[in-house]
Amino acid sequence: MKDKFYITTPIYYTNAKPHIGHAYTTVACDILARWNRSQGKETFFLTGTDEHGAKIQKKAQEEGKEPKEFVDGIVAVFQDLWKKLDISNDGFIRTTDPEHRAAVQKVLQTLHDNGSIYKGSYKGLYCVGCEQFKSENELVDGKCPDHGAVPEEMEEECYLMKMNKWQDTLIEKIKNDEFKIQPEKYKKEILSFLEGQKLEDVSISRKNLPWGIPLPFDAEHTTYVWIDAFLNYFTGLGWDGNIESIPAMWPADLQIIGKDILRVHATIWPAMLLNLGLELPKSIFVHGHILSAGKKMSKSLGNVVDPYDMLEKFGVDGTRYLLMSAGTFGEDVDVTMERMVEKYNSDLANGLGNLVSRVVKMSQKLEIDSKELVVKIENYNKKSIDLIEINEWYECQFDKLKPEQVLYATWLGTMGMNMEKGKNISEWKLEGIKQMNEYIEKTKPWKLKENSEQLKDSMMKLYSHLNLYADLIWPFMPETSEKIKRALEEGKTEILFQRIK
Ligand code: MSP
Repeated sequence: MKDKFYITTPIYYTNAKPHIGHAYTTVACDILARWNRSQGKETFFLTGTDEHGAKIQKKAQEEGKEPKEFVDGIVAVFQDLWKKLDISNDGFIRTTDPEHRAAVQKVLQTLHDNGSIYKGSYKGLYCVGCEQFKSENELVDGKCPDHGAVPEEMEEECYLMKMNKWQDTLIEKIKNDEFKIQPEKYKKEILSFLEGQKLEDVSISRKNLPWGIPLPFDAEHTTYVWIDAFLNYFTGLGWDGNIESIPAMWPADLQIIGKDILRVHATIWPAMLLNLGLELPKSIFVHGHILSAGKKMSKSLGNVVDPYDMLEKFGVDGTRYLLMSAGTFGEDVDVTMERMVEKYNSDLANGLGNLVSRVVKMSQKLEIDSKELVVKIENYNKKSIDLIEINEWYECQFDKLKPEQVLYATWLGTMGMNMEKGKNISEWKLEGIKQMNEYIEKTKPWKLKENSEQLKDSMMKLYSHLNLYADLIWPFMPETSEKIKRALEEGKTEILFQRIK
């Protein structure tokens, strides 16, 4: 299918309620999905929940609940949060869906029949937090660095999936970007891992773990949670597990993941696809983690930032804005409530919100016909700012997966700088929100002579810029974008972002 865009988030574990890291990935994917839809691409945006495995079974037990009852409760919170964050996902996959479970069993049977899965045993150190075996060199002082726990030594009969024969193929496909891993530093990291050691066959089943999908050819075993989980990227498109009828949306155009799950996504996942004779996803983008005051968030440090607290304080678009502008997408980003309040006040309440309210109030006071102004904007824009180039610049930032640059430029008027694609920067310039506020202070339109050309001109400039900002921020802040458009058309304003004291 041409001009399609299939984007996925990882599916989230349901051992606990969603946290800010989950919100970060999902909001980022939502922005990219909205952008691609707005460019006319047939878009499918998938998210969901990863509900089987030892970690979740243990948590349900601790709460005295049946696993399914327990995960149902958590899934409801995830779905509620996505609704509150205005997430426009086209699908939501749960690994406990009967259709997903049936498709996973079909795939396991195919892998078994074609000799990619065989019976053996595996000995290793298992981190339940990661639901992964860890090698000695991944541990710090004998502990998993992500979970601070000593992994369990495990040796059991299991089924294994062949990995080793795909090592060179994987290296080749990653090197030539057929299976593109971005940013570059993660591509290098995974290549150095793949080139540095022999890929071992991976254990894909557990014997004494009832909370999982039973292997169709050996009901004593349930499938390894990651095999179950990866297949969501297919079953979320409605796939039934039949190799002959792969959904038209496949391959995924972009899979966004956090850095802690890169290795499994760059080894087990593609090896499984190769074992099935299926195409690999086109690209994987790895983002960093959200830290709080320079440290990993943890209850004991008291530095956890809850997405629900953010929603309460900053509203839906405020939260989306603060998450996406927190730092370079791809790197670790650091947040604190204090800094976010400051940024919210300066960029949103005093910046964008103030600008909209000033301009609309001015048009009321000066009895300007705002409907007429809105109609004239298009013509004005064509003459004064080159919309094609602005669009190209935006497209370029989205293609390079730099959504934070788009926000930065909209506020600070740095569009056109770093223009790539070998273009000369022509005269066009879209001034940022900050400059427009400064422009008002300087020109003081309310002091200009009624009906003068100068007044008409400055109102036109302000209206046209606001109208453009509304378009440009739409993928990031859809509600605010619509509110700005309405305010301009109706010449009426409401407070977009209440200042936080
Ligand atoms: N269930 C697996 C993924 C299976 S995908 C086939 C899983 N789930 S998770 O809930 O633990 O993590 C989901 C995502 O959240 C990962 O991409 C992870 O990197 C991300 N984050 C977890 N903590 C995070 C931060 N503090 N900051 C940003 N993202 C973080 O792994």
